[in-house]
Amino acid sequence: MCGITAYVGNEPAANKILASLKKLEYRGYDSAGIAFFENEKIEIIKAVGTISELEKKMQQKRISSNLAIGHTRWATHGKASLENAHPHSSQDKKVCVIHNGIIENYQTIKNELKEFHFASQTDTEVFANYFSKNLNGGYLLEDVLRTLGKTITKMKGSFSFAIMIEGFEDKIFFIKEKSPLVLGVGNGFHMLSSDEMALDEKTEQVVYLSDGDYGFISKNSYCILSNGKIVKRRKLPFTAQVQSVHMGKFTSFMEKEIEEGSFACFNTMLTLLNQNLQKLEEAIKNSQKVFVVGCGTALHAGEVFKYVLEKECKTDVFLDYASEFRYKKPNIDKNSLCIFISQSGETADTLASASYAKGKGATLVAVTNVKTSRITKICNIVVLTRAGVEVSVASTKAYMAQLSALYFLITIFGKVKNEKISFSPTDILEIYNQKKEIIDAEKITLVANHIKNEKSLFFVGRGLDYFLAKEGALKLKEITYIHCEAFAGGEMKHGSLSLIDDESFVVCVLTQKNLLDKMMSNIIEMQSRGAKVILFSPFSELQNKVFCFVPLKKLKSHLMPFVAMRPLQMLALKCCEQKSLNPDMPRNLAKSVTVE
Ligand code: F6R
Repeated sequence: MCGITAYVGNEPAANKILASLKKLEYRGYDSAGIAFFENEKIEIIKAVGTISELEKKMQQKRISSNLAIGHTRWATHGKASLENAHPHSSQDKKVCVIHNGIIENYQTIKNELKEFHFASQTDTEVFANYFSKNLNGGYLLEDVLRTLGKTITKMKGSFSFAIMIEGFEDKIFFIKEKSPLVLGVGNGFHMLSSDEMALDEKTEQVVYLSDGDYGFISKNSYCILSNGKIVKRRKLPFTAQVQSVHMGKFTSFMEKEIEEGSFACFNTMLTLLNQNLQKLEEAIKNSQKVFVVGCGTALHAGEVFKYVLEKECKTDVFLDYASEFRYKKPNIDKNSLCIFISQSGETADTLASASYAKGKGATLVAVTNVKTSRITKICNIVVLTRAGVEVSVASTKAYMAQLSALYFLITIFGKVKNEKISFSPTDILEIYNQKKEIIDAEKITLVANHIKNEKSLFFVGRGLDYFLAKEGALKLKEITYIHCEAFAGGEMKHGSLSLIDDESFVVCVLTQKNLLDKMMSNIIEMQSRGAKVILFSPFSELQNKVFCFVPLKKLKSHLMPFVAMRPLQMLALKCCEQKSLNPDMPRNLAKSVTVE
């Protein structure tokens, strides 16, 4: 994870870097730092904590440099501390680097650098010293470029770097290998960033660097090399929606994004309905096996897809966590259709699984929210979700948009396989258009008040509702730090019921009519052991049978995830707010998990 940014141009760089880091903060926020030139020497300011801590330290100094690099960190090697915060310098302080990614062979390289003293536990500092050693005092541009080329072949893993070198006050060097890095071109400036969204709003064009690229940016020019040769990369117009990352009237991005979830479904479906689907239909027609892969929330959306597709189209789906998938060596061949779900399109495990499936000759479909992400480069077909930029680390509207895209895929499967599907894309458009959803915020706030001080919570559902319970539990645990565990209702009696006593709160989801009796039996079993049940359900006849009832609108059974999930997301948010925690920046998490 981590976010890197670099600016060289006409204007003072410090504010540009700060503004960019704020937009990159979703990638990690345990420490941050900036480096710039002062009197021809490299100066560094670092702080533990969020960008605002760095900002406070920066305000104590007048920074006039028109060139700077900045970093926001998500710890991989070494704890969150000032020593481990980036930028890192070589021992002679002449090279200063920021880094996103992991150098897998850093320990081997470190062993070769016996003469160096290391101030941090990071792989980044190993890079700085290795690079500086190989530069060997060579301060001609061609020496630097040659050393960059050598370094990129020496390092194993996924990484992108921005590098300042004493003696080159007008240039920032870079390396890109498997971690994201874009180059922004503006009138009188150039930038580098882990995410195009964090480029300056005056950026006019963007260059998507390829793996193996290295080179430099300066105020008026840039140079990209690959394998020792200068290469040209296409410049595309800069269209990132910088404005959409403002919080507006909301108190957190998560609140804003839960609100936007319903429109995200609508927008995704509407856009897909207007697309040429020939390639997708062909791929479905030719598929004999279907695989679905993702991580966390994305996989939870995949679980809903698998359940509904199997029921509606009698098509078996093999589903797995991306982190497990390729190690199981699934039986994939050229007749397999592999669907990779990833909001960011940059999740390392998902990318690695996609590459594995590609190697087996399968047809790959990416369901992603980021048009320019790496998953779109690996997959044959891209199904874009239209959630807009999702800033809050806890995924909410992106999940809703994923559901919408996946239900769209189910209708295509139905068409190709000549199966009658119980819902249509219009049903999904109408949920937003005709406001077929209720979110009883008052009731949810009340529930949050009951559970906010719990140490442990249970989420229970059956069938489709089990997958909603899993996602509801993930949302709540990731932003409140309450231990939450989801169970399939019928499984409780096989051991887990032992956890239930008269202090237990159990959040139940019951939206499927055909499972009503069975789920109610499970609820009664838990209540007999003292559990206080909070029930999310459209079946109002159950409201007096539980401790607390949160009403949902009633839709066709397979469409219920579209109205059940946002109230569960809201429960997590309310609980987090009542605990005075920041929902947008949960501990130990980052928006884009670019390490395996
Ligand atoms: C949870 C959450 C994560 C992500 C997971 C996959 O709220 O955000 O579980 O869903 O890290 O990320 P993407 O979808 O970007 O591959």
